[in-house]
Amino acid sequence: MTDKTAVQALVRPERYPRSSTYDPAWLIGLDMGPNPLWLLEDLATDLDLRPGMRVLDLGSGKGATSVFLAREFGVDVVAADWWVPAEEAAAVHAEAGVADKVEAVHTEAHVLPFEPESFDAIVCVDAFEYFGTADGYLPYLAGFLRPGGQLGMATPGMTREVRDLGAIPAHVKAVVGWEAIAWHTPEWWRFQWEVTELVTVTSARMQADGWGDWLLWARACAEVQPGGEEANAPVVEMLETDGGEYLGFALVTARKV
Ligand SMILES: C[S@@+](CC[C@H](N)C(=O)[O-])C[C@H]1O[C@@H](n2cnc3c(N)ncnc32)[C@H](O)[C@@H]1O
Repeated sequence: MTDKTAVQALVRPERYPRSSTYDPAWLIGLDMGPNPLWLLEDLATDLDLRPGMRVLDLGSGKGATSVFLAREFGVDVVAADWWVPAEEAAAVHAEAGVADKVEAVHTEAHVLPFEPESFDAIVCVDAFEYFGTADGYLPYLAGFLRPGGQLGMATPGMTREVRDLGAIPAHVKAVVGWEAIAWHTPEWWRFQWEVTELVTVTSARMQADGWGDWLLWARACAEVQPGGEEANAPVVEMLETDGGEYLGFALVTARKV
């Protein structure tokens, strides 16, 4: 038994040393989905991000991952998002002291206003599932990477393809509906990307205990967000029912050929 609150349980330096230096209350205040810093910190172990690189944070939300990229890796970030106004994200970047390293851009993922081959890396945390599953998307996105540039994506994923199961598992369908058909396995992503011969996939894995991380996040949000218990109850229940059988995160990285 522990007397830690659910929010305090988000500080886990043994597993996520970099993320643990960020105030969990700040991160929950920017919540749009399960702990984006844990996902990014883990994903980054499969990438080679170096100071001065130009990195696109695609589907950057309210700004936490862009702050993390600028601070932890010294990269120059373009934070591109569709649902969050650029001014709102820019205020988060400024407050965090990285306004000089991060540019917020309001854009839709299929009409990106960037020059071809203008990024050293593209990172996408918990957003690719909304726009990136069509056959033509990887080829489109790869066009913005310089040759040898890196792509890294963390997305809700499942240990089995819905197609192979024949249906979305009932406990998942009850909460997220048809959207779960985009929660592909790492191997699905590996094939989908590699078959284009435009990139070489460098890693494709389910995050170790990603299901457990997701549950920790949902419980913390339930604890502190206004109306959080009610709002997060369905997700907590979905994850508890799942018990790690299907749900987690697919972490996939690649290099442009
Ligand atoms: C679940 S939120 C995650 C935000 C952030 N990456 C994080 O982890 O906190 C998904 C993000 O994807 C972005 N998104 C969804 N569809 C998009 C699209 N078609 N084009 C660009 N961004 C999109 C949304 O604006 C939203 O910020």
